[in-house]
Formats: sequence, structure tokens, C-alpha cells
Amino acid sequence: MLPKSRIVNLPVYQPGKPAEEVKKELGLEEVIKLASNENPYGCSPRVREAIEAEFTNITQYPDGSSAELTGELAAFLGVKQEQIIFGCGSDEVIALICRAFLLPGDETVMADQTFSVYNTNSQIEGAVIVEVPLKDGTHDLDAMLAKVSEKTKIVWICNPNNPTGTIVSDDALTSFLDRIPSHVLVVLDEAYAEYVTDSSYTDGISLLGKYSNVIVLRTFSKIYGLASLRIGFGVGQPEVIQLINRVREPFNTSRFGQAAAKAAIADQAFVKECRDNNYRGLQYLSAEFDRLGLAYFPTHGNFILVQVKEPGAEVFQDLMKLGIIIRAGFNKYPDYIRVTVGTPEQNAKFIAALEQVLSKRKAQV
Ligand SMILES: Cc1ncc(COP(=O)(O)O)c(C=O)c1O
Repeated sequence: MLPKSRIVNLPVYQPGKPAEEVKKELGLEEVIKLASNENPYGCSPRVREAIEAEFTNITQYPDGSSAELTGELAAFLGVKQEQIIFGCGSDEVIALICRAFLLPGDETVMADQTFSVYNTNSQIEGAVIVEVPLKDGTHDLDAMLAKVSEKTKIVWICNPNNPTGTIVSDDALTSFLDRIPSHVLVVLDEAYAEYVTDSSYTDGISLLGKYSNVIVLRTFSKIYGLASLRIGFGVGQPEVIQLINRVREPFNTSRFGQAAAKAAIADQAFVKECRDNNYRGLQYLSAEFDRLGLAYFPTHGNFILVQVKEPGAEVFQDLMKLGIIIRAGFNKYPDYIRVTVGTPEQNAKFIAALEQVLSKRKAQV
């Protein structure tokens, strides 16, 4: 076998450990998963009805162009239908962008540390990855701009950033977009946009009229609670979307995903409730981390990266034994863990377990 040499050493994506697997492995009755930034409140009740109604069509291919959903989403976002493309999660939209734009040797600029899927897909296309360290956990847009060369095809901005949760300021973002050459595609990944309550946050969709080289990524996996249905989307100029559409598989989203997404958009009261709950959860967790003397990044998503001052991978194992799954193993933050904001009960159980783990580790020194 002769695979492409550039994929041979690619790491296989390590997702958050599923709760069912941990229950079985450790013989635990209750396992709380706070590892993948999923919605602890489930999804809108309207989604269940939509999925049940769609069941009669299970033998039929979905509409490859997601026409109905596109129409409803376009109206909701205030953009044209030609500006939207759906993917099997925004993960797939990232892959499609790379497939459409990157050739071997092209450069692509991204933060270090940020969502790993940009890096992997860029490598698959043979692009040269130019990583720019975060500054205080936030994208350093001036330093990223300085790395843009005539070979640069794509710049990735994850806003809020995964795993730090930080956002870029309105001024920094618009000043960056004013200065970047217009042939460079700027991907604004806003997977957590609906959670942001800070009034200084710039919604990428509002920038599309002014900057034709911007594409915004959003997802139904986070606040809408539809992660298992794999549906996310990109919004950009029709010309950019048309290019990406050329490399899309014919039926990349399912009937259930499309039906669920339509129902989910229609229930913005659920979205607001989740945003409010998340805000309260962040306040609770921040106050508890303060009490425990643990530093954390100022987050705007549904997760917090907190410095546990112990090897994150070991704290991950210790917490798992107590039935709590979090995320660790971030290269740049070896003594941090990332925890998703859960329900008040889950958050309290997480804090109690963390306190137990950290005090036990201290006692062992
Ligand atoms: C920043 C960011 N972008 C994109 C995704 C992909 O989400 P999905 O493929 O479920 O839409 C995630 C998932 O964790 C994420 O954190």
C-alpha cells in the first residue's frame, strides 16, 4: 500500500470519551460528560416532533441542497440563500474549505492553540501550517497578519476560541480585516457565538457585507443541542459558497439533521434559556475556581480552561474514576483542563470531584 506520505503521521482525532464507554470500563452507575461542549439541556422539544415526522421518509435520500432549511436559515440570519452551505457538522465545512482552496505548498495561518481540525485538514491538503501563539489566550491578530505572505490562502480565527474561550475585540478584528489582502480567505469559526453575552463581540455575519473574503462557520451541535445529527454551516459570499459546493458530497447532511435544524431555529426561546443558564453556570464555576485559587481564561463559550497546576492528563484520569469526564491534553496548556458548563447539579458534582482530586494529590506530595 502506498498512502499519501503526508497523512501517514497524522494524529487520529481524539474525541471526548463517551459516557457509556466510561460506565462500562469503570463499572460506574453515573457518569457526567463535560468533555465535548455539548448542551446539557438537550435540544428544543420541537426537534423530537420534527424527527418523528421525518421518520416516514427514512428510505428517501435527503435533499442534497438542503433547500427548505437554507431558506429558513437565510431568513433567520438576514442573508441570501446563495450565501449558505451545510456540512456534516461544521467539521465537514472546514474540510471542504481546505479541499476547495488549499494546494500543496500553500500557506495557512492559525493560532496555537486553537481547534485542531483546521490543522489536520490543512495537512491533508499538503498546505504549510503557520501557527501563531495566542497572546494571553487570545488570537494575536497583528502577529497573525504579519505572517500573511503571498503564499497565504486561508487564515483561521476561532471566535470564541476553543479551548481558551476568549474572543477577539471588535477593533482588533475589523482592523485585521481592513488590512488583510482581499484574496486571502478569512474563516471566522463561531461555533459558540450563540453563547456570547459580551456586548463587544462582533458577529461575523454582520461583517459579510463589508468583507467579501470572510466566511463564517456556525453549528447546530452546541447551543442547539444537535451534535449527534451532524449539521453545521458556512455563510459567505455566493461566489465563495459556490466554490465550496463544487467539492461537497451529494448528500452530506441527513433528512433528520435538516428537519431537526429547521425546528431548532424556530425555537429561539430555548436558545435564550440555554444561553442564560450557561451564563449562570460560568459565574458559578468562576466563583468556585476563585475559591480554590485556580486561574482560568475569561471565557465566552460553554466551557472553561482552568489551570489545575497538576498534569492535566492525570487529573483527567483521576476525575474519570469519580465519574466525571473532562478534556485535557492541550499541548500549550499541559497543566490545564477544559470543562464544559453542565447543569447546576453537574457543575456542583464536578467541583466536588475536582476539589477531592486536587486535595488528594496535594496530600500525596
Ligand atoms: C471551534 C469549533 N469549531 C467547530 C466544531 C465542530 O463542530 P461540529 O462539527 O459538531 O459542527 C467544534 C466542535 O467542538 C468547535 O469547538
